[in-house]
Amino acid sequence: MTRPQLLIDTDPGVDDALAILMAHAHADVAGLSIAAGNVGLGHTVRNARTLVDLLGVATPIFAGCATPLVRAPDEDAAFVHGQDGFGDVGFPAPRAALTDEAAALALLRLTHERPGQLTLVALAPLTNLALALRIDPCLPERVARLVIMGGAVTGHGNTGNVPAEFNIGFDPEAAHVVFEAFPQFELVDWEATLRHAFDDAEFEGWLKQGDERAGFYDSIAGTARAYNAQHGRRGVIAADALAMAVAIDPSIVTRSEKRAVAVELDGRLTRGATVVDWAKRLGRPANADIVLEVDQARFAAMVRRALGAQD
Ligand code: RIB
Ligand code: CA
Repeated sequence: MTRPQLLIDTDPGVDDALAILMAHAHADVAGLSIAAGNVGLGHTVRNARTLVDLLGVATPIFAGCATPLVRAPDEDAAFVHGQDGFGDVGFPAPRAALTDEAAALALLRLTHERPGQLTLVALAPLTNLALALRIDPCLPERVARLVIMGGAVTGHGNTGNVPAEFNIGFDPEAAHVVFEAFPQFELVDWEATLRHAFDDAEFEGWLKQGDERAGFYDSIAGTARAYNAQHGRRGVIAADALAMAVAIDPSIVTRSEKRAVAVELDGRLTRGATVVDWAKRLGRPANADIVLEVDQARFAAMVRRALGAQD
């Protein structure tokens, strides 16, 4: 099977890091476009460069927007990922180069160079994708697939606006632009993430069996795993890794539903919520293929391989 070609928008971030390790283990990566989100853009760019150093690859890195399109975000996710986004480990300055091309422009250029070949994997607030769409509304025609980690399809979110998930809630206007522009995308939401958490003991075994990638992930994941455990979240939760598994191999999906999904922009308590027309009442196009279940064993095998913990 030929390796999929991925273009990844990301805000590294601990679970972004696992997703990027997976991408390089299973696919060809055309580039990493970097967003602000989990932590500020300075940290997310530095973390992407640290990851590229670890992997010893030449994956180009493009810095994106430092702020959401319209309104300042209510919160970042440093309380989960650490102040620097990588568990405050304190890695040395990275060596990997930062390309001086803006992320939105790089997204447009790379999809022109490889029309219909790239799977766009969105693991962050959608600011860079929205800007690219405002520059060139024809972007969706050149993208083979768009896989988005975002949303909470029955309102069980993970932010201060209860029904909102972080990536959508950080920049709701950007998500609205993307959801309206792409006639079809695959949506891997927070609720599916929780249903596909890994058993702690099993994951610990993979980290022990793994290579330097496992050691790296173990070092950056301490704050996130502690936070999840302290807040009653069962197991090892990796939203971006689940979305990446779907992007790498869509046949891993065992149940999904196509529905119209829109983003709430104005609700006092609900801004950033992903509103799903489950009853197909509105007669709007079903823009989202909502991933509900994946083959957990195949998901686990993809993660193990990314950590160097072979069977
Ligand atoms: O809600 C989870 C998402 O928000 C993940 O992409 C995580 O990295 C954070 O950005
Ligand atoms: Ca992310």
